[in-house]
Amino acid sequence: MVRETSLSTHDLIYPMFSAFGKGIKKEISSMPGIYQQSIEYIVEEAQQAYELGVPAVILFGIPEQKDAMGSDAYSDTGIIQETIRELKKNVPGLAVITDVCMCEYTDHGHCGVIKNGDVDNDETLELLAKEALSHARAGADMVAPSDMMDGRVAAIREALDNNGYKDVPLMSYAVKYASGYYGPFREAAESTPQFGDRRSYQMDPANRLEAIREANMDVEEGADILMVKPGLPYLDIVREVRNAFNLPVAVYNVSGEYSMIKAASKMGWIDEDRVVMETMLSFKRAGADLILTYHAKEVAALLKKGY
Ligand code: PBG
Ligand code: ZN
Repeated sequence: MVRETSLSTHDLIYPMFSAFGKGIKKEISSMPGIYQQSIEYIVEEAQQAYELGVPAVILFGIPEQKDAMGSDAYSDTGIIQETIRELKKNVPGLAVITDVCMCEYTDHGHCGVIKNGDVDNDETLELLAKEALSHARAGADMVAPSDMMDGRVAAIREALDNNGYKDVPLMSYAVKYASGYYGPFREAAESTPQFGDRRSYQMDPANRLEAIREANMDVEEGADILMVKPGLPYLDIVREVRNAFNLPVAVYNVSGEYSMIKAASKMGWIDEDRVVMETMLSFKRAGADLILTYHAKEVAALLKKGY
């Protein structure tokens, strides 16, 4: 009766990696239980997640080909666009969220267009707007830009509004730190930058006031949900964002956080179920409404068992 926070399957968003091809289901070595998989397997697993009570997935794409302009990202027959259509056809009740970024589609692995050896913020905006629009056209329920270019929320919002998608909400990766915790994800999405790093567009882990400035820009540009990423090392930031804005807050329990729990559990050093549930509750206590987590199916199954 005096419990202050609670966890529900409704809080969960399950990230999935959709790979071009057929008959592909390849486990990511640093993320046991998480796969690069072709569309038929994505549909199968998304259905399972939905039946466990997970209301939404977020999709990342591994295209057939990458190029300098990341053209698969905004092709109406791109890997994500095809995946959205199949999911909406086969699991209509499931909310399909898409990650909007260029790094999974560019051969250089950066989150934008390269000009004079560096990521060009403003040219990237146009491509991100095209990408988000093509996701909406394919049936995405929500788009989630993760690139951290300045002005992207406004650019995407305008493209959606002008093309009949006023009702498609936007979840912004508003506060995204340049983090070592993304390592396993980059293996999963094959998106490691081929030169340099992402520090010119992602945030310095030392900064807290900057988080509020970043989130503020996105709120002004029309974001509907604000995300903080990574999760566990930035719970203070989740709380700051929760207190500063009256929008729903999401937290991304990223790949490296997942790998650490899986590795320690495999060694027999921690009680995995207990640590996972405690971690989830910590996000809620910090003020998050939504949790993007690779543990989503496990958590939903534990909740079902009455954990
Ligand atoms: C792409 C993107 C990244 C993640 C989500 N979207 C990686 C990055 O910025 O390198 C990380 C997710 C994770 O580590 O689980 N911009
Ligand atoms: Zn990116």
